[in-house]
Amino acid sequence: MSAGQGHEGGPIGVALFGAGNVGGGVVEALDRGGERYAAVVGRPLELRGALVRDASTPRHGLGSECLTTDPDALLADPAVRIVVELMGGEDPAADYIARALRSGRHVVTANKEVIAKQGRDLLAIAADHGVRLLYEASVGGGIPIISPLSRDLLANEITGVTAIINGTTNYMLTGMASEGADYADILADAQRLGYAEPDPTADVEGIDAAYKLAILCGLAFHVAVRPDDIVRQGITTLTANDLRHADALGYAIKLLANGRLVDGELIASVQPTLIARSEPLAKVDGVLNAVQVEGDLVGRVVLEGPGAGPGPTASAVLADVLDLARDIVAGRPPVETPPLRRVRVRPPGEHRARRYLRMTVADRPGVLGEIGYALGAHGVSIASVIQVEADEDARTAEIVLTTHIAAGAELEAALDAISASDVVEEICNVIAMAG
Ligand code: NAP
Ligand code: HSE
Repeated sequence: MSAGQGHEGGPIGVALFGAGNVGGGVVEALDRGGERYAAVVGRPLELRGALVRDASTPRHGLGSECLTTDPDALLADPAVRIVVELMGGEDPAADYIARALRSGRHVVTANKEVIAKQGRDLLAIAADHGVRLLYEASVGGGIPIISPLSRDLLANEITGVTAIINGTTNYMLTGMASEGADYADILADAQRLGYAEPDPTADVEGIDAAYKLAILCGLAFHVAVRPDDIVRQGITTLTANDLRHADALGYAIKLLANGRLVDGELIASVQPTLIARSEPLAKVDGVLNAVQVEGDLVGRVVLEGPGAGPGPTASAVLADVLDLARDIVAGRPPVETPPLRRVRVRPPGEHRARRYLRMTVADRPGVLGEIGYALGAHGVSIASVIQVEADEDARTAEIVLTTHIAAGAELEAALDAISASDVVEEICNVIAMAG
């Protein structure tokens, strides 16, 4: 039997590339739901083995005979029809996915970095070899969003996608807002619960969310966007102070991913954002993710659910596996994905938004006037001002301002002027406001 052909009528072989947090969740679900999956597919699924870095570490549900550090050992097994890549990172995962596709295996991946950076090339390899590459788990954890955008909402002209798509940061921001939790402690919690990426920098700097937004923009607007072109700001400079001020003003702060196609140009950003408490996304707390899609026919659709963790992610991974297994049983050929267009991506200076500013200033007469003048001179109008506290010994005060809508470039010029004056000690945070 040739590679990828499998045993006709027998079990459908599945190989895992990666058996960590998510891989462990997949193993457990396969173990628990095996009979049900066999009934859904018409043939059982059989786990043929797992690729890991360290085969000497015991894994729950996987005997040592199932573990290998050699991807070719799994690709040489003709019973393997589906490879599930759950290693993370771009290198060597992208190469292994390409090798699996070229060997005639269907591939399922949860790897947003690989799909955001190399998805187009890998989909082309899949098409050339008559197999499919599916990636439902790459965005939104357990929330079905790739499939709805690819199929159920296809009749719409999508005008906007607004999303909370990083469970780790949402979990952290929720803990910081509700319990005043310390940044490092709450990050350690998220890691322990299996939400965080192997290197959490990708979570807290918004890199993970930018990969996911690039994937969503491809599906929603049929445009190709490089993750590096997405305007990005992480949560590392946020303090419990900002969350408290936002709350007092009637807002929550979320790491928001936003994509919009305006006059044929893409506006895409991942940034902490003040969202009015009345908005549905402001109420999405903990590890939950939510994706809000606006379409010309459907109006506004919000999909919400657990965005990370072994169980929810295994749910999305196995949905793809079962979909492929049913195609294998039915002998259905793969459907080609349409190509993506390149469009201009607007730079940050052209992003128009209201913004929240927090700064420490000298506590003396004329300071507010000077700040107001600098903002006004660059076309930035103040919407509200609060002087929140004064340190009499240091003779400094904290000022929180919100602005009306202004372009990023106008605000940047105003902040340069403010920083150059001797009244401002520090511009602590500049945060976008939704709406
Ligand atoms: P993880 O816990 O770090 O697991 C990674 C697994 O891949 C480990 O078993 C590791 O082997 C293996 N591996 C890594 N590099 C390898 C290499 N070069 N050769 C062989 N094996 C290698 O990561 P995870 O949290 O499960 O995430 C896996 C993927 O799912 C990532 O793409 C992530 O972005 C995505 N994802 C994760 C979540 C989540 O909630 N965690 C949610 C959605 C999507 P060892 O065990 O021997 O180290
Ligand atoms: N680290 C990611 C998150 C995993 O926290 O959302 C899900 O992609």
